Amino acid sequence: MKIDFSVEEAVQKRYSVRNYQKQEVDTNLKHEIEAFVGSLENPFGKKVNFHFLESKEAQNQQKLGTYGVITGAEQYIGTTIQLEPMSLEALGYEMEAVILYLAHLGLGTCWLGGTFNRKGFANAMNIGENDIFPIVTPYGYPAPKKHIKETMMRKMIQADQRREWSSLFFKSDFQTPLSKEEANELAFALEMVRLGPSASNKQPWRIVVTEQGCHFYEYKEPNYSDRFAYDIQRIDMGIAAAHFDFAVKEKMMQGAFHTESEPDITLPENVEYAFSWIKE
Ligand SMILES: Cc1cc2nc3c(=O)[nH]c(=O)nc-3n(C[C@H](O)[C@H](O)[C@H](O)COP(=O)(O)O)c2cc1C
Repeated sequence: MKIDFSVEEAVQKRYSVRNYQKQEVDTNLKHEIEAFVGSLENPFGKKVNFHFLESKEAQNQQKLGTYGVITGAEQYIGTTIQLEPMSLEALGYEMEAVILYLAHLGLGTCWLGGTFNRKGFANAMNIGENDIFPIVTPYGYPAPKKHIKETMMRKMIQADQRREWSSLFFKSDFQTPLSKEEANELAFALEMVRLGPSASNKQPWRIVVTEQGCHFYEYKEPNYSDRFAYDIQRIDMGIAAAHFDFAVKEKMMQGAFHTESEPDITLPENVEYAFSWIKE
């Protein structure tokens, strides 16, 4: 997998597009997208499967429901995994790579983890019953205007806001906030994490920076994931890993992800260790 576009531009360009033009993406471009998807990999070593769907080819189009959240979409991409440690993070990482790539191509997307008819999409995408199917995204050309429900949703979840640095990034322990200046050469990668998308815009990622590197934690919102058979916020953690990884690679910084490098520090309530990025 090669990220040969500006990470910052793609991250800035991306937002959740919920209203699409009724215009199909050109076949050649679709092939390029499929090739990119075919080249995906993730630092957690877990398999993520991708499924493409053309709305017009689905037999039961009314079953491709999104509760009125998505309008005009002609094509979708779904992802499935086997539920095992780090597979939700792997899905978040690879799907976000696709989403940034599509943003770079000028195409809109919208992470959907809740507001879609899982059964209808699973049938249309030939997804087996033993696969976990957490996410689909539509993709296509954004319509010039947002629809009313979309505007209301964005307001309700404050989709244009992001948490401040001081509540996300810390130095050595969770008592000491990390400033942008102190983050130094890591500031760019941390800022890319901060601007990422997350389920209901909850921004669960917390990062403690030490001499070794960066330790990623999840602020697990109480009861939030109860309606799923898995912790959907682990997907947000994978998105954070993708933004971070693409940013440090762009800056030629050397390091790698590890899942067993948890530092011995006291955790605030509802915070869980996820993984670390260790300098090399
Ligand atoms: C894992 C995940 C699941 C999401 N599920 C939904 C969803 O079911 N429906 C929806 O409309 N948006 C969904 N979103 C989009 C978020 O609401 C959106 O990313 C966030 O509000 C920030 O807005 P932005 O993407 O425009 O920056 C999801 C995002 C993520 C990362």
